[in-house]
Formats: sequence, C-alpha cells, structure tokens
Amino acid sequence: MPAVLQEGAPVDGAYHERTGPRHVAIIMDGNGRWAQARGKPRLYGHHAGGQRVREIMEACPDLGIKYLTVFAFSTENWKRTQAEVSGLMSLFRRYITREAQTLVDHGVRVRFIGDRIRLDETLVRLMDELELLTADNDLLHLTVALNYGGRDEVARATKRLAREVAAGRLDPERVDAETLARYLDTYVLPDPDLVIRTSGEARISNFLLWQSAYSEYEFVDTLWPDFTRAEFSRLVANFARRERRFGAVPT
Ligand code: FPP
Repeated sequence: MPAVLQEGAPVDGAYHERTGPRHVAIIMDGNGRWAQARGKPRLYGHHAGGQRVREIMEACPDLGIKYLTVFAFSTENWKRTQAEVSGLMSLFRRYITREAQTLVDHGVRVRFIGDRIRLDETLVRLMDELELLTADNDLLHLTVALNYGGRDEVARATKRLAREVAAGRLDPERVDAETLARYLDTYVLPDPDLVIRTSGEARISNFLLWQSAYSEYEFVDTLWPDFTRAEFSRLVANFARRERRFGAVPT
C-alpha cells in the first residue's frame, strides 16, 4: 500500500487509500503512422483508433477507473489538410450517432471539453444531445476533448473570470487556483491521476496542462490502434506501484 499522504494532497483525501488511478487521460497518438505503415490513408488509422476507444472504455470499470478522458482533436489539429480535418469531423459525427445507444445502455456519462465555437452545427448538436442523453449515467465518465487545447482552455476560463470581476461579482483579491479551476471546462472532473501517451512521443502537446500538474505519466511506443486492453491493464498496475507525494513528505 502506498503511504498515506497529508500536506499538499488534494482536498478529496478519500482516494489516497486506493491503489489504482481513478481518472486516466489518454493522448491517442499514432493513428496516421499506423495507417501509413499499411499503405492506407491516415483516416483509416483514425477509424481503427476509434475502435480502440471502445475497447479501452469497456476495460475501465473492471480496473476501478471511474473517469476516462481522451484527446480526440486539438486546437492545433486544424493545421492538418482539409481532407483529414473534415474526415475526422465526419468520423466524430458518425461515432456519436452509432455509439449513442450503447453508451446509454452501458452506463457511460459522456462530456465534451474544448471550444465548440469552431465546430460545425450538426456535430455540436450531436454532442449536446449525447451529453443530455447520458446525463444520468454514473458507471464511467467519458470525457472527449474536441477542439481542445490546455492554453486555450485557461485563456477562455480567464476571460469568463475577468467578466465576473468586471461585473463586480467576484473580488480579485479572492481569486486563487481553486477559483480559476472552477472556470475550466473540466470543473466537474477530478484531476487525472495517470496520463498515457501512445506512439513514442514524450510530450504533453497542450493536453490538460492545468489539471495534470501532479499526474503520473506513461509514454509507450505502441501506436494507438495497436493499444490493447492488456497493455492498458499493465500501465494501470504500474501506477498502483508508484508513490504519489503531491509535494508532501510521506508520513
Ligand atoms: C493522433 O494520431 C490522433 C488524432 C488526432 C485523432 C484521434 C481520434 C481518434 C482516435 C478517433 C476517434 C475518437 C473518438 C473519441 C470518437 P495522429 O494522426 O497524430 O498520428 P501520427 O502521429 O501517427 O500522425
């Protein structure tokens, strides 16, 4: 069992007694390379990647994971070719339409984080509907980051907070880290305990910058479409062996 930690630990102390991660966030990287290695277009890799999301999601309840957050499209991904961007958008639309009932039936609550302003109307409507449709579920909380960037999120949160200050509803002297966190897209979610990135790149690429301040990281070489439930379970087991200190000294 990891040592019980006190000073510096998040307010919600209950889960320090747990050994596994409660919230896992994943940077699903490597779809393009996976497809190219097979002489296929990049979108073929994104389709295969979409299927992995389902498998990994299904594994979560057995592994004691209550929150799963996946990085589906970043604020920087608009720089890809128009064909890839529109292919991804249509994949998201189809994925939501096709998977909605399964998600409802399997107790998954879906949320989207990121800026919806640049997303097309149909997609945004489908996202809103899926959030509403799954709002009463509680077995697994799946958060999909779509047109998401950590810096963009902090900037949008700051804008909203500044408006409250300007309107006289918030005293700037009382603004601290917890105040700002309440304006983030993730305000209802616990911080991720474990962040996984596939495909051999060891960087965080603007993902959950604020929230992952104390997360454990796992960078694996596997390309996302090859990432299996077995590998996922192994990383989750590794996490349980780590001692998290949150800046404190073990007691
Ligand atoms: C990164 O691989 C992957 C993406 C930008 C898209 C992720 C999308 C999915 C897995 C599809 C569906 C997901 C949901 C939740 C519906 P890359 O294209 O950067 O790969 P590369 O580094 O090999 O080029």
